[in-house]
Amino acid sequence: MNIMVISAISRESSTCYMLAQQLVGMCEKRRVTVDFVTPTNAELPLNDGTVAWDLPEAIAWQKRVAAIHCHFWVSPEYHGSMTGAMKNLFDYLPKEPMRGDAIGLLALAGGAMAALNTLNGMAVVARSLGAWVAPEFCALNSNDVKAGLDEAAVARVDALVETVIDMGRRLYSTAPENNVP
Ligand SMILES: Cc1cc2nc3c(=O)[nH]c(=O)nc-3n(C[C@H](O)[C@H](O)[C@H](O)COP(=O)(O)O)c2cc1C
Repeated sequence: MNIMVISAISRESSTCYMLAQQLVGMCEKRRVTVDFVTPTNAELPLNDGTVAWDLPEAIAWQKRVAAIHCHFWVSPEYHGSMTGAMKNLFDYLPKEPMRGDAIGLLALAGGAMAALNTLNGMAVVARSLGAWVAPEFCALNSNDVKAGLDEAAVARVDALVETVIDMGRRLYSTAPENNVP
């Protein structure tokens, strides 16, 4: 089972990156293979509509996504949405690479309100790419991540990881051509 964890922010000191790294640890406890992605390590230029459809970096990124069964996207709320750098990753994907995959969504708010608009927006994009979106959204506050998540928050994130990996196993074990142990 191959898992992709995407941090919308490439800077290691950001709470988004820190939370995404925590997710990697939670996934690895379940004996899966994790591909950790940031906008920087995806090495894609800005898709402003002038990029060649067969750009080698884009083809490499599409193959990287196609090898995955379950996804986790982590983004801070930037003006009510995922970051532009994260969205740029998905603007290089046709439907095929993510179709039928399971996905868990996590968003970080800097202010007092939870990042619900960001989560809903991410869900729309994930569904548009053909993924099954876990019903449990994780809305967290950046300051809480920086301070270290309490037990209840860790349990919520862990429950999301469990749901997504369990659903990924079910989805793929019923697809004969994609039988995954
Ligand atoms: C351009 C920009 C827009 C932001 N918009 C929002 C917002 O709409 N709502 C919100 O709760 N936080 C907003 N924030 C705060 C971020 O969600 C986030 O909590 C903060 O940037 C975390 O910083 P870190 O990456 O250093 O941990 C914004 C931050 C930036 C840089």
